[in-house]
Amino acid sequence: LITTLHTKRTELLPAVLGSTEETTTGVIRLRAMEKEGSLRIPVIAVNDAKSKNMFDNYYGTGESALHGILRATNVLLPGKNFVIIGYGHCGRGVAAFARGFGCHTIVCDVDPVAALQAHYDGHRVMTAGEAAATGDIFLTVTGCKDVLNAGHFKRMKDGAVLANAGHFNVEINIPELEGLAKRKRTVRPNVQEYELADGRRIYLLGEGRLVNLAAAEGHPSEVMDLSFSLQALAAEYIAKHKLEARVHRIPTDVDENVARLKLQALGIKIDALTDAQEKYLAGWSEGT
Ligand SMILES: NC(=O)c1ccc[n+]([C@@H]2O[C@H](COP(=O)([O-])OP(=O)(O)OC[C@H]3O[C@@H](n4cnc5c(N)ncnc54)[C@H](O)[C@@H]3O)[C@@H](O)[C@H]2O)c1
Repeated sequence: LITTLHTKRTELLPAVLGSTEETTTGVIRLRAMEKEGSLRIPVIAVNDAKSKNMFDNYYGTGESALHGILRATNVLLPGKNFVIIGYGHCGRGVAAFARGFGCHTIVCDVDPVAALQAHYDGHRVMTAGEAAATGDIFLTVTGCKDVLNAGHFKRMKDGAVLANAGHFNVEINIPELEGLAKRKRTVRPNVQEYELADGRRIYLLGEGRLVNLAAAEGHPSEVMDLSFSLQALAAEYIAKHKLEARVHRIPTDVDENVARLKLQALGIKIDALTDAQEKYLAGWSEGT
C-alpha cells in the first residue's frame, strides 16, 4: 500500500497523516526509501517495538511455523536434524520450539553476532552448504532471497523437507529446484515432491510461502493482540503528533504500556522501582 501510494497514487499522499509498519521486511524497505529520500509520509516501525518482535516474531513464528510443518507433513520431529537459516527474532523462536520437540537444531546465519549467540544457545552452527548434507528439515527465516538454492539442493538427503517462514516465496530458490527436478507431484495438500535426476526426493511445503500461514493458522491471537495493540496505539500517536516524513521508533512508553496491559490481562503483578532506586539508576553520584 505504501509503495502504491509512492508510485501509482501519489496524488493521495498529501492527505495521509502517516502509517504503521508491522513486519521486519516492511521496515527494511521503508528504511531504504528513507535513505534514498523518497519516503514522503511518517511511518512508525511497529515491528521494532520490544512488545512486538520479542513476542510475535519469537513465540508466534516459533510455534506456528512448526505447526505448519507438522500439519503439512505429519513428520515425527524428535530426533530430526532441523536446520534454521536466519537466527533473528523469528529464527531464535523457531530454534527454541524445534529443540523443545526433541530436534537436533542446526543454525546458519551470515551475521557473526547472531551465529555466536546460536552457538552459546547450544545449537550447532555451520554454513548452509554444510547443513545441506545433514538436515532432515530446513526452515528459512531471513527476509533475504536465494537462501537455499541449487548448490544446497544438490547436497540434500533423500526426503529432505524445505519450508520458509520469512519473506514471500523467494528465500528458497524454487526456479532452481524446478530446474533440477525431473518430476514433480503433489503428495499431500501443501507438500510438493520434487524428484531429482538421481532419484532423490525433496519436499517443498506451501510453495515456499510462509508455512505458518500456508499450512497452519498463523500466530495465535493470544500473541497477535500485542502487535495489534501497538498498531492501534501507534496510529493514535501519529494522529496526535505532527511527525516528520521518516521511519520513527515507537515511543518507549507506548511499547511498555502494551506489555503492562498484557500483564494486567494475565493477572500478573510486578514490582515497581522505589524513588531511591530510580534516583540511583538515573544518577552518577552513587555507585561509581
Ligand atoms: N512467518 C511469519 O508469520 C513472520 C512473522 C514475523 C516476521 N516474519 C518475517 O521473517 C523474516 C525474519 O524476521 P526477523 O524478525 O527474525 O528478522 P531479523 O532481522 O531479526 O533476523 C533475520 C536474520 O537472518 C539473517 N540473514 C539475513 N540474510 C541471510 C542469509 N542470506 N543467510 C543466512 N542468514 C541471513 C540475519 O543476519 C538475521 O540474523 C522477515 O522476512 C520477516 O518479515 C515472518
